[in-house]
Amino acid sequence: MVRRITSKWAKTIALRRNPKVARFLPATSKMTAESLKRLLHRYGMVYVKPDRGSFGKGVMRVEKIGEGYRYQSGRKIVRYRRYEALYGALRRLTRGKTYLVQRGIHLLRYRGNRFDLRVMSQYSPSKRWETTGIIGRAAAKGKIVTNYHNGGTLYTAETLLRPHVANLNAKLGALARLGVQTGRSLRKSFPGISEIGLDIAMDKTLKPWILEVNTKPDPYIFRKHPDRSIFKKIRRYQSAY
Ligand SMILES: Nc1ncnc2c1ncn2[C@@H]1O[C@H](COP(=O)(O)OP(=O)(O)O)[C@@H](O)[C@H]1O
Ligand SMILES: [Mg+2]
Repeated sequence: MVRRITSKWAKTIALRRNPKVARFLPATSKMTAESLKRLLHRYGMVYVKPDRGSFGKGVMRVEKIGEGYRYQSGRKIVRYRRYEALYGALRRLTRGKTYLVQRGIHLLRYRGNRFDLRVMSQYSPSKRWETTGIIGRAAAKGKIVTNYHNGGTLYTAETLLRPHVANLNAKLGALARLGVQTGRSLRKSFPGISEIGLDIAMDKTLKPWILEVNTKPDPYIFRKHPDRSIFKKIRRYQSAY
């Protein structure tokens, strides 16, 4: 059985129950005038995103700058002096849909472009969670989302992390364990979940942050991985669900 949970909020609530996972979740709220203001003033930069969205669609970056504010959507940047004006504009853009506001993570960069990582973890034929693949995604120039279906470029995690990380294998091992831990936790709240794709941001201290957990992750991005055995294994596990 393949089960999909679309609400990012529902998944966040479920994952918060496990302290081993909760500490990797950036502060997140449903967006209201108050929650946006609170997170913006606490963190200086936040991401606003549809509760049920994909491909980076509708994702915006909002910042407090000096005495004012600005938001970025695609490559468009708009500035405001007053919070009320900013929020009014965001209200119009997000009308009729539930949006989340999340602490923004300053992503590491590769050749000037922001990147994050996709960690694929699956419930294996031997009935254990296992991380079957990790791949990196760099945003297109000047963009705030890394999604492959939003102009992002795929690289191996090694290529993207090597300039930043001294002990690469230890870091990748920790990410693999985080995927396993997250899979176990999520399956407790949503029985039937058999695979997850974690979007992991890494900040400059190299702490990983779980930006979202996809329950129907695209396996085909791993076809681009030079290690052919990764995609093969992902498909083999998928055919066993
Ligand atoms: N809190 C955040 N901090 C930094 N970047 C983020 C944050 N949330 C999202 N992003 C960027 O936007 C992309 C899309 O957001 P995500 O939450 O994964 O939604 P989607 O379902 O559209 O993929 C992420 O892969 C990441 O590049
Ligand atoms: Mg995503």
